[in-house]
Amino acid sequence: MNTATPAVLTVDPQRSVPRHVAIIMDGNGRWAKLRGRPRTAGHREGVKSVRAVVEECVRRGIDTLTLFAFSSENWQRPRAEVNILMELFMTALRGEVKRLNENDVRLRVIGERGAFSEKLQRRIRDAETRTANNVTLNLQVAANYGGRWDIARAARRLAEEVRAGRLDPDAIDEDALARRLSFPDLPEPDLFIRTGGEQRLSNFVLWQSAYAELYFTDILWPDFNEAAFGHALDDFSRRQRRFGHTGEQIETWSAMGAYERTE
Ligand code: IPE
Ligand code: IPE
Ligand code: MG
Repeated sequence: MNTATPAVLTVDPQRSVPRHVAIIMDGNGRWAKLRGRPRTAGHREGVKSVRAVVEECVRRGIDTLTLFAFSSENWQRPRAEVNILMELFMTALRGEVKRLNENDVRLRVIGERGAFSEKLQRRIRDAETRTANNVTLNLQVAANYGGRWDIARAARRLAEEVRAGRLDPDAIDEDALARRLSFPDLPEPDLFIRTGGEQRLSNFVLWQSAYAELYFTDILWPDFNEAAFGHALDDFSRRQRRFGHTGEQIETWSAMGAYERTE
């Protein structure tokens, strides 16, 4: 049996705490409907869950949290709901910066931000700048984001570099494409959570989640608190990630201490 530590396994399969958690925050509308309130009441309530999860990531030493706030498909919702989501985003960007700084959280927004109003784009830039030096947690908010958009944009970047004579098409491999996606400097998601009961990816981080552990819960996003997040993390810590290898290989490397580095 070949038990050599493979060069291709760049993620520690034994790491019990994920470095990067990605969450589809779903179920706000249903949460509100159950209470006879407008869907937007659920979106407002959901901000509290965002705070709870961000602070729990800081406490647990998770490096990166990516939250799906608005998909490229969500523009198709009723105009009034889209407007309120934009307003909420504006308010949160202004109101949360102080708390983010207190928690040493760096905020970045991923997605096609050119579709937002000038004012919102300025507010995004401002929040990013004011939190840019924080290092404890990378918080990425995916807004007007789509996994396919991300991949298509990377392909366009490659094509432009080829056209400009800076890139040889033969040099295009998975790594070359990955380096032109939205967050090439951060680890790929280890744990992919979706609240709200649906079991689908809805065009969230597709390429980067190729080997993420999936966790689905029926809990609606406004009810997702520290304890619920803790259950997801406990579940993750019990998974065996194999990345195409066998369980025996992973166990052998683990016994050899081959992956006990916590970089
Ligand atoms: C997720 O909750 C928030 C956004 C998509 C902006 P939903 O609004 O999708 O809530 P449900 O799925 O209708 O309950
Ligand atoms: C995904 O939820 C997008 C966000 C949570 C921002 P949706 O509620 O839009 O997904 P679908 O439409 O049910 O697949
Ligand atoms: Mg939904």
